[in-house]
Amino acid sequence: MEALRDSLGLRVDSLADELGAGPRLVAQSWFARHEFFGPASTNQDSHDLPFQRWYRFKEAFAPRAVVEAFSALPMRPQTCIDPFGGSGTTSLTAQFLGVRPTTVEVNPFLADLIEAKLTTYVPNRLIRAFRTVVDAAADIEPDPSAVLAGAPSTFVEPGVAGRWIFNRDVAVRILAYRLAIEGLEDATHRRLLRVLLGSTLITLSNVVISGKGRRYRSGWTRRAVRPFEVGRLFEAAVLRAIEDIVRFGRRACLDFTLLRGDARTALSQSDSVDFALFSPPYPNSFDYTDIYNVELWMLGYLRTGADNRALREATLRSHVQIHRSFDSAAVSPLLTETLDLLNARRDQLWDAKIPQMVSAYFDDMTAVLRGLHRVMPAGGSVMMVVGDSQYAGVPIDVAAICAEMADGCGFALKGLSQMRSMRSSAQQGGAHELGETLVHLTCE
Ligand SMILES: C[S@@+](CC[C@H](N)C(=O)[O-])C[C@H]1O[C@@H](n2cnc3c(N)ncnc32)[C@H](O)[C@@H]1O
Repeated sequence: MEALRDSLGLRVDSLADELGAGPRLVAQSWFARHEFFGPASTNQDSHDLPFQRWYRFKEAFAPRAVVEAFSALPMRPQTCIDPFGGSGTTSLTAQFLGVRPTTVEVNPFLADLIEAKLTTYVPNRLIRAFRTVVDAAADIEPDPSAVLAGAPSTFVEPGVAGRWIFNRDVAVRILAYRLAIEGLEDATHRRLLRVLLGSTLITLSNVVISGKGRRYRSGWTRRAVRPFEVGRLFEAAVLRAIEDIVRFGRRACLDFTLLRGDARTALSQSDSVDFALFSPPYPNSFDYTDIYNVELWMLGYLRTGADNRALREATLRSHVQIHRSFDSAAVSPLLTETLDLLNARRDQLWDAKIPQMVSAYFDDMTAVLRGLHRVMPAGGSVMMVVGDSQYAGVPIDVAAICAEMADGCGFALKGLSQMRSMRSSAQQGGAHELGETLVHLTCE
């Protein structure tokens, strides 16, 4: 672990070499708090890292993965892009290292999380805004069924068939804070405080997020969540965030571009960028919209079933949970071979649409690579971390298929390197280890 820490320190020193003394020290002290528990493609190392601790985003990679990627380039890029922003790891790390970030994120809660992290604040104003919210929330007693009129009935007690995600008195306090936040004048304060309220929701709820979805906590009916805990958890989250902002606010780059929307089309709005680093959803049937549904509905990002449907339609076709078109024009010899094998085992698949979904996934990846090609100069690098999947014993070698498709999108394959192994889900056979690979492409 010490060797890893030393090597990260050396890389950060070298990347931060051209920065002014202040931002260099800020970057060095932020990276000094980076832990080394797991592979760089997971976020186990950054649970307690300032900014990354605002919201535990399970699918994030560690900031040190960004440092490793920048260090592998012939020179530090001036600009970088992440078409699948998630919790904003690429962009935040880039700001620390003086690289101007652009990112795309389709999920409005996550887009707000990213923007909240990348924004610059005046701490005193933020503290005043927080006090205003606390005072205003104390005087509000919203009716959850009115505020959450369009949300699924399972959200608030009495729920459906004896199950609900939030006890009614807890939901009342959460919604009181939400409405008080909505009353703030400054949009940056509203965004940050809403995100921080969002970070408390799962703890306050009767569900946990595990593996591929949401499930009720065991013994949730006996677990007493009290309404005052809403304010306590929210205050703790705000104090932590203010500490991070005060200590690490003076990053080398304070600028950024956030494109809210679907990377398959939104990349056309990006300016030219030197480097792309990202990890797309994997074709493993993980439904991101469903996983973040609690935050999306409770915080008012989704208000109707149609909003929910539109968001799910805009996400990458990496799962079969919704009925949607799986039209695809993706072509690669290995993809054809894989689809033939999947079709031959169609009767063993847990969903008959899996072969079409796999094909559509690569069609979407083609659209993203083509979009990147349009905004990158010749010689620019793309690094993407992709994960394999497996259905009915048929491996989906995502890296190899992407490598085959890259040529048709204007990229040459520079290299493939293994990141780690993921255990496949019970649905996919359980015992097998699945690869996670860094695909390095260069723009032709
Ligand atoms: C694996 S996560 C990225 C994690 C990120 N590297 C980090 O460190 O936080 C993939 C992200 O892609 C987003 N996503 C899915 N479909 C998208 C689309 N069509 N356009 C943009 N983002 C999308 C998901 O909402 C999710 O946040």
